[in-house]
Amino acid sequence: MAKNKVFYYCQNCGAQSSSWLGKCPHCGSWNSFVEEVVKRDDSNNKWEKTAANTTASTPKLIHEVTYSEEERLSTMNHEFDRVLGGGLVKGSLLLIGGEPGIGKSTLLLQIALTMPGKKILYVSGEESEQQIRMRAERITAKPSNCYVVTETSTQQIFSHIESLQPDVVVVDSIQTLTTSVIESSAGSVSQIKECTAEFQRFAKATGTPVILIGHITKDGAIAGPKILEHIVDCVLQFEGDRNYGYRILRSIKNRFGSTAELGIFEMQSSGLREVANPSEILLSHRDESLSGTAISATLEGMRPMLIEIQALVSSAVYGTPQRSATGFDLRRMSMLLAVLEKRCGFKLGAKDVFLNIAGGIRVDDPALDLAVVVAILSSNVDIPINSNDCFAAEIGLSGEIRPINRVEQRIAEADKLGFERIFVSKYNAKALDKTKYNIEIVELGIIEEAFRKLFA
Ligand code: TYD
Ligand code: MG
Repeated sequence: MAKNKVFYYCQNCGAQSSSWLGKCPHCGSWNSFVEEVVKRDDSNNKWEKTAANTTASTPKLIHEVTYSEEERLSTMNHEFDRVLGGGLVKGSLLLIGGEPGIGKSTLLLQIALTMPGKKILYVSGEESEQQIRMRAERITAKPSNCYVVTETSTQQIFSHIESLQPDVVVVDSIQTLTTSVIESSAGSVSQIKECTAEFQRFAKATGTPVILIGHITKDGAIAGPKILEHIVDCVLQFEGDRNYGYRILRSIKNRFGSTAELGIFEMQSSGLREVANPSEILLSHRDESLSGTAISATLEGMRPMLIEIQALVSSAVYGTPQRSATGFDLRRMSMLLAVLEKRCGFKLGAKDVFLNIAGGIRVDDPALDLAVVVAILSSNVDIPINSNDCFAAEIGLSGEIRPINRVEQRIAEADKLGFERIFVSKYNAKALDKTKYNIEIVELGIIEEAFRKLFA
C-alpha cells in the first residue's frame, strides 16, 4: 500500500523541511515554502529511486580505477559541439536554459534533425506533434531519423524509450514533466528534482545522452530553483536580445570540458545559423566613418571578436543629465566618465551620455574601456574615428591605460580582419613580437595620449 509523506519545499532554493517555515533558513526568502506530497507507490517505472537500483560498491585505489576516454557523439553542429567541448558525452545529462522565445526548442530540434545516422527521440510537453512538424519544415526539408512524441509522464516516456531505443533523448521542457512518485503539480520543486534524477539514472545506466530544456525564472536561475545544476553534468545557457538575431550559447558548468567556450548563432527564418566568424556582427557598417563609434577587440570566453561601440553625447535638456548603457555596465560607464572629467578636463557633467553595443549582445570584458572612452570623446568633439582603427585596453581610476589578457589573440583577429591600427597599453606592447603582424600597434600609457593621437 502506498504511503504518502508531506514535505515543505522552498520554491526559491529547493530546501526541504518537514514543517512550514515563514523564512527559508538557506536562501533567506520569505513565504516561499509550499507543501508537496511525496507518494511512494508500486508503479513499474524502473528509473525511480528503488533499493534494487543501487548496486553494492567497494572502495578501490584511485590508480586501479579503469577508465576510457569519454566517447563523444558529434552533433554536426560545430557551435554546439564547441560549447560541449567536442560533442555529446555518452551517458551525460545536459540542461539548457534560457528565456521563453529565445530559441531553445529551435536549437535542439535543429540538432535532432541534422545529427547524422542517429536515432533521436524528441519529447515535447509544450507543443503538439503538428507544431513540431511545422517547425521542422522551416528548418530542413531533408528526411531525418528524429522521432517526436508529446508526453509529460516520465513513466510513459521511459516506456517509449524502451521500445524505440534512441541514441539521444531530448526533453522539452523539464518543467512540464511529472513522475508518479511525487504528487505535487508539474513544475514544482520536488517534481523537477525527481524527474531530473530519473533521467540521470537512465542516462548513466544506459549511456544515452539526455538533453533537458529548462525555463529560466525571472531572477535568471535555470529551471526555477538552482537545485538542478548539481544533478546534471552540463548547464548551458542560451541568451541574446530578442530584438536582434544573435544568440549566444554559454556553458556555465561542464564536467567534460571548459566553460570558457561559447557558441554563436543567428536566428533566421529557416532556423539558427552557426556564426563561425563573430566579428561579422559589426562588419556591415565599416565603410562609413561616423563620430561616436569605436571598435573594440574583445574576447568572449576564448573567442576574439571585434564589436562596435556607439556613444552619443549631447547637452542635457533637463536639469539632471541622463546616462544610459545597453550591453555595457552602467556603473562602469559612470566611472569612465568620471575619469575623463578629472584627467582630460572634459565637462561631461552637464551632458546626456548614451552608450550602445552593436548587435544586441552583452559583453563583460575590461578591454572594452578604451573603445568606450574613445567613442564618448569622438561623439563629444564630433570627430569620427578612422574605421580602420580598433582598441583593446582597460582604463584605471587615475586614467592609466592598463594591460589586458590574451592581447596577441585580439591583435591577430584585428589583423585578420584588415584593421590598420590597434591601440593597446604600453605594458602589453612590451612583450609583443610586432613583426608578426601587418597591423600597426600603437602603445598608450595614459588616456590623454589617446586623445592627442586621435583628435589633435
Ligand atoms: P523557440 O525555439 O520556440 O523558443 P523557446 O523554445 O526558447 O521558447 O523559438 C521562438 C522564436 O524563434 C519564435 O519567436 C520564432 C523564432 N523562429 C525563427 O525566427 N525562425 C525559425 O526558423 C524558427 C523555427 C523560429
Ligand atoms: Mg520552447
